[in-house]
Amino acid sequence: MVKICCIGAGYVGGPTMAVIALKCPHIEVAVVDISVPRINAWNSDQLPIYEPGLDEVVKQCRGKNLFFSTEVDKHVREADIVFVSVNTTESAARMIADVSVSDKIVVEKSTVPVKTAEAIEKILTHNSKGIKFQILSNPEFLAEGTAIKDLFNPDRVLIGGRETPEGFKAVQTLKEVYAHWVPEDQIITTNLWSAELSKLAANAFFAQRISSVNAMSALCEATGADVTQVGSHLLMLCRLCVKPLAQMSRKWAYAVGTDSRLGSKFLNSSVEFGGSCFQKDILNLVYICECNGLPENRFVSSMFNTVSNKKIAVLGFAFKKDTGDTRETPAIDVCKGLLGDRARLSIYDPQVTEDQIQRDLSMNKFEWEHPLHLQPMSPTTVKQVSVSWDAYEATKDAHGICILTEWDEFKNLDYKRIFDNMQKPAFVFDGRNIMDFEKLREIGFIVYSIGEPL
Ligand code: NAD
Ligand code: UGA
Repeated sequence: MVKICCIGAGYVGGPTMAVIALKCPHIEVAVVDISVPRINAWNSDQLPIYEPGLDEVVKQCRGKNLFFSTEVDKHVREADIVFVSVNTTESAARMIADVSVSDKIVVEKSTVPVKTAEAIEKILTHNSKGIKFQILSNPEFLAEGTAIKDLFNPDRVLIGGRETPEGFKAVQTLKEVYAHWVPEDQIITTNLWSAELSKLAANAFFAQRISSVNAMSALCEATGADVTQVGSHLLMLCRLCVKPLAQMSRKWAYAVGTDSRLGSKFLNSSVEFGGSCFQKDILNLVYICECNGLPENRFVSSMFNTVSNKKIAVLGFAFKKDTGDTRETPAIDVCKGLLGDRARLSIYDPQVTEDQIQRDLSMNKFEWEHPLHLQPMSPTTVKQVSVSWDAYEATKDAHGICILTEWDEFKNLDYKRIFDNMQKPAFVFDGRNIMDFEKLREIGFIVYSIGEPL
């Protein structure tokens, strides 16, 4: 029986290994972590992360061929394939080198700077006591909230390895694991660096696309254009930004382009784009933005004129729906902006605990990696924030509602009931464009949304 060990039982390690265990019953999968509470949660009925469909997958294999454990050294030592899915890849590599007594394939699952595999390789070979390690880069493309769906039906699986006979063999071994459920033509193999870079590039493209849409929606608000009506032009604009691709190989572009969210067209690199239109029209847009003096954080600055001492109900705190994850959630900035303007906040998110919200709002931006050293929230801020477990409670007596996460349940609330219990005039600011604005306006709300003139 092949044994797999995954270091790191987080958002990636947990779901990915659960799916491998489900799809490959002949493989024994151990997920290890230094965090005792996290492992205890994985072994309980209350898993440490919320992901639709995850409970069922874990229940089907836990205790059979899927194990969660804090015995890191033991499981690493016994494994044939070790996945590394942590934010501290190099220290994990050191530990693998220390405890190993047999040859292993080490799979870099974490998102890492390009050439990290080379650094890991050095660490492993310098400590290897004659043991042979093959390093693979197998970046993960799942998104939180749809992790199980993404893992069951990935657009592609990318495996990078050394271009040597041993490297090819290792790539083949990992390919055979995925081939249990992923069609072979969707398993792309590249060299190590292409795989590492493809992951960063894909994320940069997604971010660029969203930034483009966001920038365009700001312009729509300022000019009276409708963001949905200019959608096709937005898409075109996103595709124009091919310049960063200039140094990339065709295989690289293929690895990025196979993601159905990006599409495979317009990924050919060239010295630069030319012609009479692109440059002129982009400069034209920049000019219109400047003329409209678009503010950076328009969400906070444009809302309700003054919010001082008003109660604002915040619906949604997670960074997207179907997850309880709040790392880098835009809700933190928006809530802090509102608190800075002395609003009183009543926050409701179906999956985020009060403890987590209070912690996030009391942290400075880069402190979340070290939550133990946090300053407690100032007494004034504590008084300004309350957390509810019910949207109706959160919105009672509020002056306005801010929808900050696109949870489906927010679409189906009884907004007539909510309106009746709010202060008047009652505002809704839909930061995710999920609501039926006409219906809300019929009830009596004043509605603002992203991409609509204020
Ligand atoms: P996470 O913080 O949820 O999980 C990491 C886990 O590793 C934690 O439980 C931590 O206790 C454990 N850990 C850290 N050092 C360890 C060590 N030396 N030994 C054992 N356990 C250790 O992180 P994540 O969101 O799963 O992300 C992991 C990597 O995957 C990152 O590089 C991330 O960029 C990448 N990634 C994340 C996502 C996502 O949606 N979250 C998607 C694709 C890729
Ligand atoms: C993202 C990528 O989508 C994954 O492919 C990648 O594996 C992962 O990062 C990673 O490397 O960690 P994730 O951050 O979980 O996944 O979620 P996304 O769905 O990409 O959303 C990220 C943020 O962008 C969220 O705040 C979401 O609300 C926002 N978003 C997304 C938009 O504002 N508009 C969109 O059209 C899509």
